[in-house]
Amino acid sequence: MSSINIGVIGAGTISEFHLNAYKANPEAVIYAICDQNAERARGKAELYGAAKVYTDYRELLADPNVHAVSVCTWNDSHAEISIAALRAGKQVLVEKPMTKTVEEALRVQEAVEQTGNVLQVGFVRRFATNVTVAKTFIEQGELGDIYYAKASLLRRLGNPGGWFADKTRSGGGPLIDLGVHMIDLCWYLMGKPKVHSIKGHTYDKLGNRAHIQNINQYKAADWSPDVNTVEDLANALIRFENGASLFVDASFTLHAKKNEIRAVLYGDNGGVEVEPELLFVSEKHNTLLNITPEIQHRTFDFENAFQREIDHFVMCAKTGRKPISPVEDGTEIMKMLCGVYASAESGKEIVYE
Ligand SMILES: NC(=O)c1ccc[n+]([C@@H]2O[C@H](COP(=O)([O-])OP(=O)(O)OC[C@H]3O[C@@H](n4cnc5c(N)ncnc54)[C@H](O)[C@@H]3O)[C@@H](O)[C@H]2O)c1
Repeated sequence: MSSINIGVIGAGTISEFHLNAYKANPEAVIYAICDQNAERARGKAELYGAAKVYTDYRELLADPNVHAVSVCTWNDSHAEISIAALRAGKQVLVEKPMTKTVEEALRVQEAVEQTGNVLQVGFVRRFATNVTVAKTFIEQGELGDIYYAKASLLRRLGNPGGWFADKTRSGGGPLIDLGVHMIDLCWYLMGKPKVHSIKGHTYDKLGNRAHIQNINQYKAADWSPDVNTVEDLANALIRFENGASLFVDASFTLHAKKNEIRAVLYGDNGGVEVEPELLFVSEKHNTLLNITPEIQHRTFDFENAFQREIDHFVMCAKTGRKPISPVEDGTEIMKMLCGVYASAESGKEIVYE
């Protein structure tokens, strides 16, 4: 097989990053687009030259010419569509979060194990240059033993509304939408330690702040001022079996001076700031050092990271190789996200066996 035919399911905002990257990959052909919104599916198919347009993902999956799919729908259909795709013999790239619940994640994992097909979870930050460089340095022992990490993705005014703000379709707010990236980034760089316990908090103090004027903000296509059933802010302390801990917070809105992104890891031999800009911290000859690597993207570069993510998926789909963001990582991350929500709801620390 020299090139593979791709079907993209869900033709909204993020599908464009998938489609642009597939377009630039010589081994991928954009063959089919599906969206329950027929106009949206048709529009994207015309734009990217897809031969087939579907409004029902089951019909796309029944098409034997489709070899691999990107699942870019709302979070509530990720599990259902991924499982159906695997069982239909397709290779799958599913957007984050992999599912809405741990139970769904385990069912996806079972389908991967039973079919032997590829499933890559869209942890796009793992493919960013700053993260791949940090990973190489960490694997060479530059940080030593990593015992603490801190991640923040705080939006001052950034509840996208629509399905993002509707818990039944999204599974939650900024934690599952933004925190998922930051938790995964740190956990991946920490060497994927096993979770020991989670203490989480969620707050819904400010709502969607639909009344705020005189400032632009991104709004989902189905935005409505009346829909908001998700948290404004979540934070958590996640402790791992190896004794390391990760503190994370994520907000859709907060009385903060500005938006903030930060991902920092500390080891007994050195530290690394991955975001907002890659920088290593160390000491030499009794002197503290801040070391700035000379690389093209010291901060997260959306398009570049998506291209590398899609190129990796196409390679895995063609060869059957296990992706660097496999299904079991998707399940572990769901365990952490759902653990934060469960702890926030019960007011207790969740301790895992
Ligand atoms: N990796 C990232 O950085 C990143 C960024 C944004 C969004 N995402 C993820 O991508 C997914 C989509 O987000 P978006 O911003 O593109 O949302 P969106 O609302 O812009 O697009 C989603 C599309 O999916 C369609 N859809 C929903 N359920 C469907 C179904 N069962 N069958 C067919 N079509 C269906 C909707 O009609 C819509 O057009 C979400 O899971 C989100 O978390 C990832």
